[in-house]
Amino acid sequence: MHDQEKSFGVFFIGAGMMGGSMVRSLIRGNAFPPDQIGCCSAKDGTAEKLAAETGIAVVDFDAGHPPSTNVLVLACKPQQLSALSSTITGGFKDTLLVSILAGTPISKIRERFPTARAIVRAMPNTPGSIGAGITAWASDQTLQPNDATAVATVLGSLGDVIFTKESELDAVTAISGSGPAYLFLFTEALEKAARGFGFDEATALKLARQTIIGAAKLMDESPLHPSELRRQVTSPGGTTQAAVQSFEQGGLHDLVNKATQAAHARSIELSKL
Ligand SMILES: NC(=O)c1ccc[n+]([C@@H]2O[C@H](COP(=O)([O-])OP(=O)(O)OC[C@H]3O[C@@H](n4cnc5c(N)ncnc54)[C@H](OP(=O)(O)O)[C@@H]3O)[C@@H](O)[C@H]2O)c1
Repeated sequence: MHDQEKSFGVFFIGAGMMGGSMVRSLIRGNAFPPDQIGCCSAKDGTAEKLAAETGIAVVDFDAGHPPSTNVLVLACKPQQLSALSSTITGGFKDTLLVSILAGTPISKIRERFPTARAIVRAMPNTPGSIGAGITAWASDQTLQPNDATAVATVLGSLGDVIFTKESELDAVTAISGSGPAYLFLFTEALEKAARGFGFDEATALKLARQTIIGAAKLMDESPLHPSELRRQVTSPGGTTQAAVQSFEQGGLHDLVNKATQAAHARSIELSKL
């Protein structure tokens, strides 16, 4: 159902993986009832699908004017931003804009949305799609208390939230934005090592995958620092110590440092494009 004239608590431009996860989580947590949420997408039907699933409204921008909303979430891909007409983007007046576009600076968003009341730029990560993410955000101004609460609610739908400076978002990207891929890569390496011991594909994957999942859950539930959890499974002269020594001699810490520096440098390059 298309709903052109409604006024919303929160409106999403983009109803894909991240936008959809945020909508589902906001409804599940009773942060907004479905009739206070609206969305739009391009022409692939994601907005209509999300609306049919959740009961939120769809607005078609072809009608020529933007909907009235307290919070606007930009959740399309960065390269899709240019497809939005300036009549639409310039029409969001007195709206708090929350952008989750990777690598798009606040200054660029401000150019496209000159009348937004405040702009927040956030860097989420993929576990956000299941509510287990960590999102850092920055703003171009000090937010009014109501807006700060709205940001905590909207971004909190993806998991944990921290406040940073915009200049720190490239570093956040290098740690938590790209971080899930580092863990997936390590899982792949562990799976390969298991195959090397002769385990079949399914068993190797199960051993590697469940080890990472179990260790993450243990870290989540324990008050101990990861280094202490590591020490607890590392008896002197034991098997784990042999492996940990090998990782350290191989320069694991330096390698992680180098990898995150590379991600950081690339994030800076991309945000200048
Ligand atoms: N996935 C992540 O973990 C992650 C992490 C950090 C940041 N982000 C950021 O999150 C944003 C969304 O990512 P995603 O993975 O959710 O992308 P996605 O699944 O591809 O969803 C993009 C959505 O934007 C819609 N869209 C495209 N062009 C549009 C337009 N001109 N007007 C209105 N809507 C339009 C798409 O509609 P159609 O389907 O109809 O084309 C779709 O609903 C990206 O900017 C990305 O940088 C994602």
